[in-house]
Amino acid sequence: MKTRTLLMPSLWAAAVMTISCNVFAADEPIQPIRPVQQINLAQVELGKKLYFDPRLSKSGFISCNSCHNLSMGGTDNLKTSIGHNWQEGPINSPTVLNSSLNVAQFWDGRAADLKAQAGGPIANPGEMAASHTLAIDVLTSIPQYVTEFKQVFGQDQITIDEVTQAIAEFEKTLVTPNSRFDQWLLGDKDAITATELAGYNLFKTSGCIACHNGSAVGGNSFQKMGVVEPYKTMSTAEGVAGLTGKDADRFKFKVPTLRNVALTYPYFHDGAARTLAEAVDIMGRLQLGKKFTKEENAKIVAFLKALTGDQPAFLLPILPPSTDQTPPPKPFG
Ligand code: HEC
Ligand code: HEC
Repeated sequence: MKTRTLLMPSLWAAAVMTISCNVFAADEPIQPIRPVQQINLAQVELGKKLYFDPRLSKSGFISCNSCHNLSMGGTDNLKTSIGHNWQEGPINSPTVLNSSLNVAQFWDGRAADLKAQAGGPIANPGEMAASHTLAIDVLTSIPQYVTEFKQVFGQDQITIDEVTQAIAEFEKTLVTPNSRFDQWLLGDKDAITATELAGYNLFKTSGCIACHNGSAVGGNSFQKMGVVEPYKTMSTAEGVAGLTGKDADRFKFKVPTLRNVALTYPYFHDGAARTLAEAVDIMGRLQLGKKFTKEENAKIVAFLKALTGDQPAFLLPILPPSTDQTPPPKPFG
């Protein structure tokens, strides 16, 4: 325990030392979210613009924020996303909040990190439907972008590598510290109610914590959906098996983070669970073979709602206007 405190950066350690019950907090299987550190601010500002810029899509209408809306917990709150030409997406959009804490990106982990992930949606025909060449042509036609890329990366040419690097750097700022549960972890015993605390204890004693742990309360392993009982779904997503072809990986998904889970409805990879109560009931039965009473379910839900942290706050970026040279958007077809 002592060593763990010592390993923490000095500012953090100082904060923990001033709190009387630090032993308790450090022994918990969930750690507080740390405010973002060591970030390239110039890349963040550029990445923020790109994140909100719909001109990276063929239609000129869909941005990262369309499906990962930062006013709505970093999701679209839809069962599955709507892509180019109003296409029905195959899978639920996970939150971008705290995604920098994930062991890998996507439900099946097919992108190693945020930078590797960010190139995907731009060129995905079912999402933004642009090509990387088109996205670069658009950006290159806008002098303010050319200047800003040059200032940030020191090169004349805008590359997709720089685009994804800047977006990933911005995404690293989308952490949500200071939830009431984190305040409790850091020693403020009054930060959560008795019901929420009872819910946390049930979460631990029932076994939820085996898969949902660490600072993101998930995001750090791939687990089967339907351990005790099979999961019934209309979705064709196979999870990790879609990558490995292995039968053992069928329905293995990245365990989602439960941070801000009160905001990121509906739940599961197919978005089939509309409410938290429903999701908790299904998790209990399918993953642990436990049928929670109504009261137990309500306690766990109360605990989960205490995991909502400070949402990212920033000024909405104003995007540089297109020019006569900018390839026109193609919203239809
Ligand atoms: C049309 C909707 C849509 C758009 C636009 C979109 N995404 Fe996504 N995003 C999704 C969906 C759906 C997934 C899950 C796909 C999967 O796992 O197979 C996802 C996954 C992710 C993830 C992984 C999160 C996790 O927990 O695994 C990140 C990060 C992300 N998107 C960031 C972005 C960025 C950055 C952009 C803009 C360049 C973007 N997305 C554009 C729908 C969208
Ligand atoms: C064996 C590992 C495991 C256990 C144990 C487990 N979960 Fe999960 N949890 C998962 C996986 C995997 C998913 C994603 C399933 C999917 O989308 O198909 C998930 C999804 C969820 C979701 C939906 C999150 C979202 O954003 O879609 C909630 C809420 C949740 N779990 C809560 C719980 C609770 C409460 C318990 C204890 C009763 C629990 N889990 C036990 C692995 C587990």
